[in-house]
Amino acid sequence: MPIEIRNLKYVYDKGGPFEKVALKDINLKINDGEFVAVIGHTGSGKSTLIQLFNGLLKPTEGTVLVNGKDTRQSNLKELRKQVGIVFQYPEHQLFEETVYRDIDFGLQKNGITGKEAEERILEAIRNVGLSEDILDKSPFELSGGQKRRVAIAGVIVMKPGILVLDEPTAGLDPAGKEEILGHIARLHEKYNITVVLVSHSMEDVASLARRVVVMNNGTIEMDGTPEEVFRHVERIEKIGLSAPQITYLMKKLHSRFPWINDNVLTVEQACAELLRHIGGH
Ligand SMILES: Nc1ncnc2c1ncn2[C@@H]1O[C@H](COP(=O)(O)OP(=O)(O)OP(=O)(O)O)[C@@H](O)[C@H]1O
Ligand SMILES: [Mg+2]
Repeated sequence: MPIEIRNLKYVYDKGGPFEKVALKDINLKINDGEFVAVIGHTGSGKSTLIQLFNGLLKPTEGTVLVNGKDTRQSNLKELRKQVGIVFQYPEHQLFEETVYRDIDFGLQKNGITGKEAEERILEAIRNVGLSEDILDKSPFELSGGQKRRVAIAGVIVMKPGILVLDEPTAGLDPAGKEEILGHIARLHEKYNITVVLVSHSMEDVASLARRVVVMNNGTIEMDGTPEEVFRHVERIEKIGLSAPQITYLMKKLHSRFPWINDNVLTVEQACAELLRHIGGH
């Protein structure tokens, strides 16, 4: 279920007093099973872009094809089953009396009931690391991290081929953050689901994604592996972003000890690189 975007332009309030070109000259293909991160400064167009994936927004110019089908012509209900989007702070949309009913909401709307609904809900809740006994609770009794996971369960219960998450760890503590990212990585591995992750954390992007799309002022500035993208530290900084912190540390070490490789993006890679030298002496 690839997503293919051709010559896309998106303008908010076209012809109106608040006209704003949010995206332009976007050409992007996301293939099945990819794990893509989207990064970019605030207002660069990330959230706008992902809303074009499931037809919530329609292109002003150009086309968005999901599985070869133009989203302008797609049945929106079908499209939203294929492309599941977890919006920023999704827990604000939990409103049912119980967690069970919240996760069941999308299934009901799509006529999935009975045993199948029950099984899907149990699977979804386990896939975000929650246990069954949470199902009877009110969403309001849960911690911030638990609520976030319930909201994610409400999207994955529809078994989308493409899972899009807009800043899924925003506002969580480091433990809650790790927990959620771990589940997203496992979902990707277990079901070979395509993941598009919008993130402000360069650390998360570097450790999880195999491809990074960098947005700048409504255009795609760079598109490559994390190694390719973060090698251009100056270019990244020029558009208001940064490399992972560990990369800066390794660059400093490299300037003192040139034999230390500084093309390092994660703490694990840094440890391995440093141990290699310690072990050698
Ligand atoms: N509903 C709207 N009406 C008018 N302009 C909008 C609307 N939503 C977003 N914009 C503008 O479109 C541009 C892109 O916004 P978007 O929300 O896609 O950026 P973003 O990269 O997701 O930013 P952030 O990192 O802050 O979430 C911004 O200039 C924003 O002000
Ligand atoms: Mg946004």
